[in-house]
Amino acid sequence: MEIVPLGPGFAAELRCVTLAEVAADDAAYAAARAAFEEYSVLVFRGQEVTDEGQLAFSRRFGPPEVTKVGSLGTGTHFVILSTIGEDGKVVPADHRLALRNKANQLWHTDSSFKRVPALTSVLSARIVPSRGGETEYVSTRLAFERLDPALQKTLENSFAWHDYAHSRGQIAPDLATPEERAALPPQCWRLVWRNPANGRGALYLASHSYAIEGVEPAAGKKLIDELMSAATALGKSYVHNWQPGDVVMWDNRATMHRGRPWSAHEPRLMVRTTISATEADGLATMRLPSPQAAE
Ligand SMILES: [Fe+2]
Repeated sequence: MEIVPLGPGFAAELRCVTLAEVAADDAAYAAARAAFEEYSVLVFRGQEVTDEGQLAFSRRFGPPEVTKVGSLGTGTHFVILSTIGEDGKVVPADHRLALRNKANQLWHTDSSFKRVPALTSVLSARIVPSRGGETEYVSTRLAFERLDPALQKTLENSFAWHDYAHSRGQIAPDLATPEERAALPPQCWRLVWRNPANGRGALYLASHSYAIEGVEPAAGKKLIDELMSAATALGKSYVHNWQPGDVVMWDNRATMHRGRPWSAHEPRLMVRTTISATEADGLATMRLPSPQAAE
């Protein structure tokens, strides 16, 4: 396996290895896992991807999420990201699929609004537009390490609220349905996720985050906005240009990403599998301590 660094201090392409080898072979998994902990974004090119193969690879990293209500693929282990309607044509710009795609163009980390957040997302390209439609990544680990040490310390002991309806509300007020709101109540997570494998902290933020626990709403929102801006500053991102056969996986604990626009008339089809974080991934440290625990 060859590791070729791609981005500004994070992201790498793994060469001479396939998803099937990582799925089947302990040594290949160990090498890929070590690269994942180190580089946060891993690119595999020229893969022969099937749904089953993608899932077998993903399962190596932990338990797969079941797709939430309101998403294409609900009830399965796959999220289908598509702007192709039931009639086989690209949907119009005001269609729910198009609006969801627009929400995906806000900086975020996947599943921070869920009861169990995600360790990693694995995304494969099935149909790609001729231009645009890239996925752009930033390292929230490097963003955290750029901050003043005093602020780092404050953030380590702060907790942010994340809500799916909040990020969707930035696109259209009713984009999150009543069914989704009921299934996805706001969640509170520590603002810094420390990686147990290497001890490095990362900002845990997203377009879903709207408030900081115990901080007056306007001041909390201002801090979130400032941290988001610092994390996504110009020159700090890796932009992935998709080709069919590409698979990219990323560490949701240590990155944010966003989709980039493409010509509305061109179809795009991507398939995502998402792996939940477990205690071994540092999940216990992320929860708001209960009042009893503090006594
Ligand atoms: Fe995403």
